[in-house]
Amino acid sequence: MQQIKPAWRDGYFRAKVVAVKKLSADMLEVLLRPESSWPTHIAGQHIALTVEINGRLTTRVFTIASGANSHQRDKQIRLVTKVKARGALTPYLHTCVANQWVNISAPMGEFVWPETQKPLLMIAGGSGITPFIAMLDDAINSKQINQKAVHLLHFAKPNEHVLLNELSAFSKRCESFTYDVLTKQTDGDVEAHLSYFADAHWLVCGPHAMFEQVESYAKTINAPISSEHFAALPVVSNTSLTKNETFSLVHNGQSLAIDNQQTLLSQLQQAKQPVTYGCGMGICHQCQCVKKRGVVRDTRTGELSDSAEQLIQLCVSQAVTDVEIQL
Ligand code: FES
Repeated sequence: MQQIKPAWRDGYFRAKVVAVKKLSADMLEVLLRPESSWPTHIAGQHIALTVEINGRLTTRVFTIASGANSHQRDKQIRLVTKVKARGALTPYLHTCVANQWVNISAPMGEFVWPETQKPLLMIAGGSGITPFIAMLDDAINSKQINQKAVHLLHFAKPNEHVLLNELSAFSKRCESFTYDVLTKQTDGDVEAHLSYFADAHWLVCGPHAMFEQVESYAKTINAPISSEHFAALPVVSNTSLTKNETFSLVHNGQSLAIDNQQTLLSQLQQAKQPVTYGCGMGICHQCQCVKKRGVVRDTRTGELSDSAEQLIQLCVSQAVTDVEIQL
């Protein structure tokens, strides 16, 4: 475990673990104190966290579940994550100890409080609640929320809703914020709850299937929508690793047909997409970007990624499913 002050990655910042706390059977809270040069986030943004696990550096992307005001006040940020049994990083997070050093990226992402006069509808699925907690934390503290009506639909499996105390505290402090705690089993699909909010700007963060339902409903009534979504782990068969297959690569709002034999970098170059790279061999990290969803194979080791958001190197990644990246 890393106890000396590391500088593992160019362009990364050091952060000290303050505490790790279990919120429920499979949800963890991690408090970090970034070094002073870390640029404060905008509520709703995420970071890439790198931790040394069994001698290997493992990086995953996490939304910051606290507002910028609490970073300015306490010099800390909070991550709240589901522990995925087969995950590469989350099952090890509980072994992090106070004062341990980790690396974090600068804050990233565009999923932030929107500039709009409309009321807001926030739609959270499972751990997708985290950016909304950060946004509400800042909007209520700074009075940015003002008289704007903000309603949150918080879907999760029965008994798996987290941070309910914080939602309750927000609604007590701010009359215009209201919320519903929902389960699909009792309350039905998300679609059943959307028609009441046709005049609002919708923000959705949750599993890809939920996002697709909300997006298709939003299109039918022309509701403006901002989103951050993650995919369930797709099933990857052995045949799909050897057979020549075509997938889609979505990046910055464009979609490109790609195969599973060449690297993502070479196919982006062939399609004349602007992409930064250096060594082409997985060494310099200049081609690194955030994979939003989908599974890729590391051409050096054959190892498959999971489908969560994470940093990948385009020059050593081949598609195994449809993939979405942020260049
Ligand atoms: S170009 Fe150097 S790591 Fe990909």
